[in-house]
Amino acid sequence: MARIAILADVHGNLPALEAVIRDLDGLGVDEVLLGGDLVGRGPQGSAIVARVREKGWRSIRGNHEDYLLAFRRGDVPQEWMTAEVWSAARWMAAELSESDASYLESMPLSMQPEALPGVHLVHGTPESNNDGIGPWTSDGRMQRHLDSVEQSILVCAHTHRPLERRFATGTILNTGSVGLPFNRDRRAQYLVLEGRDDDIAAEFRCVDYDLAETLAIYEQSGFLAAGGATARLLVLELRHAAPYLVPFMAWTQSQGRQQGAEEIEAFLGAYDPEHQREFFGSLHRPAVRRGLR
Ligand SMILES: [Fe+2]
Ligand SMILES: [Fe+2]
Repeated sequence: MARIAILADVHGNLPALEAVIRDLDGLGVDEVLLGGDLVGRGPQGSAIVARVREKGWRSIRGNHEDYLLAFRRGDVPQEWMTAEVWSAARWMAAELSESDASYLESMPLSMQPEALPGVHLVHGTPESNNDGIGPWTSDGRMQRHLDSVEQSILVCAHTHRPLERRFATGTILNTGSVGLPFNRDRRAQYLVLEGRDDDIAAEFRCVDYDLAETLAIYEQSGFLAAGGATARLLVLELRHAAPYLVPFMAWTQSQGRQQGAEEIEAFLGAYDPEHQREFFGSLHRPAVRRGLR
């Protein structure tokens, strides 16, 4: 019997990570793994990397590690280096040290826990760290993802929504998000697995933390002032535990509007996080609709 914890999508939210670390104290887990997106969408990327390295926990690489590394290399479209909507990403990329960046670069895209080798961990799907498995993913698609890996337990993250689906051939689990949940529950969320081989029980843990502390760090660090529309939308994501940034980007694009803070009010008049499917459906932009996370 082994017990492990998988933490994902911390997104630079140190108070949320510290709450999870305290929660782990009483659990006696054999191993802790990180499912990617340690950084991005939050101001404390460097502190998260330091804490994870200090703990000696292994991590895979999410799409937000890739984004910030690309910004550091200047390997992004030229307008991203100046546009307001990307100012938060530039700030977060600059906040990382050289050592943080090489650590992020060294992360693999998938791994198996040593204590439970029947588990395969990816950030998004086995094919991509930028495409997720969520409640909207069809059974057929889930089955194909399961069939594409050797192990019968596939653990993923990225959509910020916890999920458990059992099939005859195996199980798909989504950890949910530590630092930026989108399931309307603000608490820091992570996954504990216990068992042997492919006989494994999943527990989704939810931990209260002080959101006011996180919001104070947004201000004190300068992230809120420097991060333009994006930082303000991230505050809404934290408060409501629902996506605001990607819907805002999709809405402004579909309306031909500037992606600036001055459009947030009009966007809030058009968007209801309770009805995302209808909202994205009304935009007629399949390319951005896929980014619902
Ligand atoms: Fe994420
Ligand atoms: Fe992600």
